[in-house]
Amino acid sequence: MFNTFKQFIPYNRIGMAVIDDQEEIIRAEIARSDNVKIHLRNGYSLPLAKTSLKQVIESGQPRIINDLKKYKARHPHSESTHLIVKEGIQSSLTLPLKVNDKCIGVLFFSSIHKNTYNDSHIVFLNHIASHISISFEKSILVGDLILAAITGFAKLAESRDNDTGRHIERMRNYSVAIARQLANYPQYSDIITEKYIRDIYNFSPLHDIGKVGIKDSILLKPGKLSPDEFKVMKTHTLIGAKVLEKTQEVLKNKDKNFFTIGIEITLFHHEKYNGKGYPYGLKMEQIPLSARIVAVADVFDALTSKRPYKSAMTVEKSLEIIIKEKGKSFDPDVVDAFLQSQAEILKIYRSLSDDYSELQTSG
Ligand code: C2E
Ligand code: SIN
Ligand code: SIN
Ligand code: FE
Repeated sequence: MFNTFKQFIPYNRIGMAVIDDQEEIIRAEIARSDNVKIHLRNGYSLPLAKTSLKQVIESGQPRIINDLKKYKARHPHSESTHLIVKEGIQSSLTLPLKVNDKCIGVLFFSSIHKNTYNDSHIVFLNHIASHISISFEKSILVGDLILAAITGFAKLAESRDNDTGRHIERMRNYSVAIARQLANYPQYSDIITEKYIRDIYNFSPLHDIGKVGIKDSILLKPGKLSPDEFKVMKTHTLIGAKVLEKTQEVLKNKDKNFFTIGIEITLFHHEKYNGKGYPYGLKMEQIPLSARIVAVADVFDALTSKRPYKSAMTVEKSLEIIIKEKGKSFDPDVVDAFLQSQAEILKIYRSLSDDYSELQTSG
């Protein structure tokens, strides 16, 4: 599209954003630019009500802003305007994308020059808007569908050795809290984008999906596993990665990297920073960052939860263990980020804990 439309309409940047099902959030999905650095990146999202896009969507009419600097002065709190002005963009044309009269997203054409757009561009775009909308919706849907199916599968898998599905919710929220904190560290700010955080949100719940391949007599054993049983247990990492690799194949060339972070997390979440983990005994930066983040979230949640083989520990005791394992099991930076997000972690723990009220009353 970026190359095709050049003959019909001027632009230096094309951006697309989608509206979520409940129509409360708008999320930048694709951005492509010829000569300017992208600041408003994939995955960047905002509550729809906080943006001026709400009017565009409700009216269903395209909008032209031919002087973004002036517009920005009048809308000083618009973060997205700030970001695209920082990219050097001076004018923009925003086109709502509709399928069956429902707005599914918006398309932005932007130029580094002022006064670029006029009604003739709108006439042109209105002719092709419905075609863009339909093909756009299809490609978004495939990913969403697969993710929904696989997350349902993960919940089913979890329900065998976890009393409720809350483990999954806690895990993803702990993981996202740690990732957001780490994004403030200069050495991670380039890796941990909004898209990366969304991948962590979507894929961290899948980390134990391989437990589907572990038989009840091992997974649900009330006591300690024998060395042979633990050997079998460890294969849940390999089985899980295989499941996601197979699912990835279904996507063919659609989005080859859709599950990359999911596969990393599933395969490597039991690796340890000091190289003493499994399945491969990887060390330090050999372990993907996503898996180093999820490892801390997973163990904190395992410690504070009841399992067939153990009772729940207090938060204090669990924190002690995490701190003790800093630099051993866990990446020290990830532990630091975890500790810096303690308030958030505790909030998640309290709101989603199965055992909290029990622990409270038993002291
Ligand atoms: P899980 O129950 O979700 O535990 C995830 C990880 O949390 C464990 O990985 C371990 O690193 C940490 N963890 C859990 N409980 C404790 C604890 O009491 N103390 C400490 N220091 N760490 C703890 P690990 O050990 O690789 O185990 C992976 C999975 O294997 C566990 O997932 C669980 O499903 C199973 N498993 C491990 N040990 C036993 C056991 O003795 N009996 C049974 N039935 N299953 C076990
Ligand atoms: C975008 O290009 O993704 C957003 C630009 C805007 O808010 O106008
Ligand atoms: C906003 O998202 O706050 C403004 C979007 C726009 O100006 O296009
Ligand atoms: Fe696991």
